[in-house]
Amino acid sequence: MTERFTGSFTQQEPIPDEGIEAALDVMRSGRLHRYNLAGDEVGETGLLEREFATYTGARYALAVASGGYAMSTALRAVGVRPGDHVLTNAFTLAPVPGAIASVGAVPVFVGVTEGLTIDLDDLAAKAGQAKVLMLSHMRGHLADMDHLMAICREAGVTVIEDCAHTMGAAWNGVPSGRHGLIGCYSTQTYKHMNSGEGGFLVTDDDEVMARAIMLSGSYMLYGRNGTVPPAEVFERVKYDTPNVSGRMDHLRAAILRPQLRKIDAQCAAWNARYRVVEEGLRGTPGLTLVKRPEAERYVGSSIQVLLLDWAPEAVQEVVQRCLGRGVELKWFGGAEPTGFTSRYDSWRYAPSEPMPKSDRILRGILDMRLPLTFSLEDCALIARIIRAEVGAVWQEKAA
Ligand SMILES: Cc1ncc(COP(=O)(O)O)c(C=O)c1O
Repeated sequence: MTERFTGSFTQQEPIPDEGIEAALDVMRSGRLHRYNLAGDEVGETGLLEREFATYTGARYALAVASGGYAMSTALRAVGVRPGDHVLTNAFTLAPVPGAIASVGAVPVFVGVTEGLTIDLDDLAAKAGQAKVLMLSHMRGHLADMDHLMAICREAGVTVIEDCAHTMGAAWNGVPSGRHGLIGCYSTQTYKHMNSGEGGFLVTDDDEVMARAIMLSGSYMLYGRNGTVPPAEVFERVKYDTPNVSGRMDHLRAAILRPQLRKIDAQCAAWNARYRVVEEGLRGTPGLTLVKRPEAERYVGSSIQVLLLDWAPEAVQEVVQRCLGRGVELKWFGGAEPTGFTSRYDSWRYAPSEPMPKSDRILRGILDMRLPLTFSLEDCALIARIIRAEVGAVWQEKAA
């Protein structure tokens, strides 16, 4: 009998009961805006900022409306101006070049390796073209951050990390988001914490955080944020930093706080699922697993494999056959961006020179979500289905 998977790749876990209760309390209070605080109450948003700063080890954390907003705010806070060039990954998703374009800057794309990380040789070659790197840890793959930071230090490039897929991950024991000047995170519904929409920006830098708080829309109430740089820093920046509203509200903060308390256990649960799929696919002819370096502590909330040098029609056939058995794979090689796939040549507002080495890799990437609503048995079944269908198409090709 042909096995079929019947679960949903977009089904997240429910919000913890504690979060639902806290959200109800916020709604009963009527005070949803982050600066609507009774007396000297800190409020859910401020408390979340303190807890997220502690979790990441950063001096400051700012809770905002989305991950994309965190990135554009980070760019503004480090002084990126219209027309400036900003380095970023060729393999990432639309909000990343979008954040760069939103401040009028111009993305300069850097290639991708078979490890699905930014190509450090290409980065070194292009480092002279920009003062800022918006580094996307796309699908949770961390580059050699020691090497990357050395390249950027040498070239005088400021690093902003897009940690939308790496909340809970680390390189050589240093959390993702803590290598560069600023770390940006998303709490959009498919991320490691779920508030529907939302995000964070973390930094140790007084002036960057003062600017970010002003940018997010503080109405001069910045003293009431959860983590606040010294008052004299605000005096320096407050008159020349525009308000570009994008705050988080208490309702979202309320549902995130209990999720943050259990994030480590969640990451372990993702990795257990990741390893079952990885083991189930190991040795599949024609399929390359992505090697995870020793120094990387990853969070396997999704898995990617490569069908390198396959004809596009054959990859498409694998995708269709898997879908027919209930397994949704996203392919980054399609001519048109669909759903959550896209790549550097999809963003026509930001033309790039061709990158044939990267194109070869992008054409081979298959990507799959691993929501925590999947059991380990589900993961084993999914791996069996992919293995069988890749094998069948591979044999057809060989015949
Ligand atoms: C790689 C990456 N960076 C940033 C973001 C931005 O997050 P948000 O959707 O919260 O704006 C996303 C969201 O999908 C993403 O996938």
